[in-house]
Amino acid sequence: MTDTPRSAGRKTIRPTLQPRDLMTDQPELAGVWTAQVLTLLPEAFPGILGESLIGRALKDDLWQLNVTDLRHYGEGKHRNVDDTPAGGGAGMVLRADILDRALHDVRAGSRGRNPLIYLTPRGRPMTQGLMQKLAASDGVTLLCGRFEGVDERVIEAHDMIEVSLGDFVMTGGEIAAMALIDATVRLIPRVLGNQASVEEESFSHGLLEHPQYTKPAVWNGRAIPEVLLSGHHAKITDWRRAQAERLTKERRPDLWRAYCAVHDRDPDEDTEL
Ligand SMILES: C[S@@+](CC[C@H](N)C(=O)[O-])C[C@H]1O[C@@H](n2cnc3c(N)ncnc32)[C@H](O)[C@@H]1O
Repeated sequence: MTDTPRSAGRKTIRPTLQPRDLMTDQPELAGVWTAQVLTLLPEAFPGILGESLIGRALKDDLWQLNVTDLRHYGEGKHRNVDDTPAGGGAGMVLRADILDRALHDVRAGSRGRNPLIYLTPRGRPMTQGLMQKLAASDGVTLLCGRFEGVDERVIEAHDMIEVSLGDFVMTGGEIAAMALIDATVRLIPRVLGNQASVEEESFSHGLLEHPQYTKPAVWNGRAIPEVLLSGHHAKITDWRRAQAERLTKERRPDLWRAYCAVHDRDPDEDTEL
């Protein structure tokens, strides 16, 4: 292992490949929303999080990313972090004692409200509501599993919140961690230039978003709906709301029922959607 911290050219990326007290070149930024990621693949970060608006915000210190290499806490010549599952079965399990040491180090550096999340297919689904709560906190600590997962005892001991990217199984938690960070950071004020886009998009009012169009007005014989070119703002708002309701009712009956419950509407009502 090389014990040289990589900066990836950005002062806010701090992979902790060596003990915290040796890290001198990457000071914590006080009061900045912080994602702390524990992973066996630190080189995977920042990855897509270093690009576009989220990457620009990282560079501009609107949020910061600390990545900890779990291998550093491994034991023996090969820095082992896993062992065979108790009771038998395929694969390997990340050890509780190793993860516990890493978590104690990382969490000692957390400030304020900083929930600890284990990314796992058996967790609660990622939702916009969860991202809104995380964006309003001081940061988040994300444990990325690998192999068959993580020893249950460390999940219990640290009272981790289990969160899933969806009903499928990936090889590790890194992609799920990146999805969570991306969806959360874009809700932090000033990260997106246009805050209105966050307020109007899918899920923000419990509905999927209405269809979007742009120029040309006619493409391959398909015209933009006339109302959108009318300049009549009230009619445009009504049309968009009706489309959002239609799409939500058709595609996501679960969201539609929840929306109707909040707005005191009958989900089976015969509307002209
Ligand atoms: C191969 S998976 C382990 C799957 C586990 N044995 C199970 O059946 O639930 C390895 C790691 O990938 C991550 N992972 C896989 N799918 C995921 C998902 N849908 N959401 C979040 N994390 C996931 C978790 O961190 C997990 O520990």
